[in-house]
Amino acid sequence: MLPYYHTHLHIIHGPNLNLLGIRESDIYGEYPIEYYLDAWRLAYPQVWIEYYQSNHEGALIDYLHKVGFDSDGIILNAAAYTHTSIAIADAVKAISAPVIEIHISDVDAREKFRHHSYLTEPCIATISGKGFEGYKEAFELLIQNNSTK
Ligand code: DQA
Repeated sequence: MLPYYHTHLHIIHGPNLNLLGIRESDIYGEYPIEYYLDAWRLAYPQVWIEYYQSNHEGALIDYLHKVGFDSDGIILNAAAYTHTSIAIADAVKAISAPVIEIHISDVDAREKFRHHSYLTEPCIATISGKGFEGYKEAFELLIQNNSTK
């Protein structure tokens, strides 16, 4: 019998994204992540969505190692670590799951230090500046990718 969920995806959020809905709401929106998770789980009933957030680089790497060999896809918003972390980029390279880099804001239209990303190269796609709609684009890409496996 086929399992009910046919795609198992992970959303991984880096530092300060635990403050969604509180932090700089003009940039990152007014709702906490739970609001979006509920909406996505309703919109994609065939997808098992797991969410993980940490403010710690090593914890993010440990989680990538933990899920990155079984997941059907990872949506990674490494937040500020995007611009600094060779270690997270190496972890993305080390695992077998496809990873999409995502940013809520348009990082290329912001301060210069946000223009460089260590994650673009090891990720299969980058989505930036589309707010939470961008996450839906990432879901669609990973569902499509999983159906052609
Ligand atoms: C972010 C953009 C990063 O530059 C920033 O450090 C974040 C969030 C985004 O989703 O727009 O914390 O990744």
